[in-house]
Amino acid sequence: MAHRQIAIDGPAASGKSTVAKLVAQRLGGFYINTGDMYRAVTRAVLDAGIDAENDPEAVVALLASIDLRYWLVDGVPVLHLDDAPVVQDSIRAPEVARVVSYVARIAGVRDWLRERQRETRALGTIVMEGRDIGTVILPDASHKFYVTASPLVRARRRLAQAGEVVDGATLASVAAEIAERDRIDSTRAVAPLRPAEDAIHIRSEEHTSELQSPNTI
Ligand code: CDP
Repeated sequence: MAHRQIAIDGPAASGKSTVAKLVAQRLGGFYINTGDMYRAVTRAVLDAGIDAENDPEAVVALLASIDLRYWLVDGVPVLHLDDAPVVQDSIRAPEVARVVSYVARIAGVRDWLRERQRETRALGTIVMEGRDIGTVILPDASHKFYVTASPLVRARRRLAQAGEVVDGATLASVAAEIAERDRIDSTRAVAPLRPAEDAIHIRSEEHTSELQSPNTI
């Protein structure tokens, strides 16, 4: 069967990872999470002591000294920063979430990641999730989906994800953080978060069993 490219976009904590992983599993495709790539760059930026909000030039300069790529490990794409696999705990930490949208609005960062994201097409069928996959990264994707959920559902989900929120976080504080990240992501000049014109919209609310019913795509 011909290789397929599936694009899955949507705002923070919308449930797109759950959908994307299931689709990849069903299709026997490779799951690529571009949010992890932005988060890994952000981790490197924080570790280098750079202020991403106010010093985008320093962020772009840092890129020359790092490498970030998906490598196949036992047949599964694993994101590597330089030669080490990227550890989820380190990129899902709340300090990364606070800064990642500032890193992701820098054109030089998006240019740098674009080719790294597109080169994963060589793997075969890919299911790629992010914010600009259907619009910019894989405009010719065979299938495009835009996954959303209500702000309340999204905040509840994020609050339930251990290690992703600061101690003492409340539903209101998490909802505000998500709303701010969505605001920056959808108003930036380059590749803003928005559905592709030909995307199928999916609302991912509480009835997760719906996601597990067989999907013909
Ligand atoms: O998991 P969550 O929904 O919180 O977000 P993520 O998918 O891990 O993405 C983290 C951040 O990376 C987003 O808020 C965007 O700022 C950025 N991002 C982006 O700009 N473009 C992408 N294709 C993917 C992520």
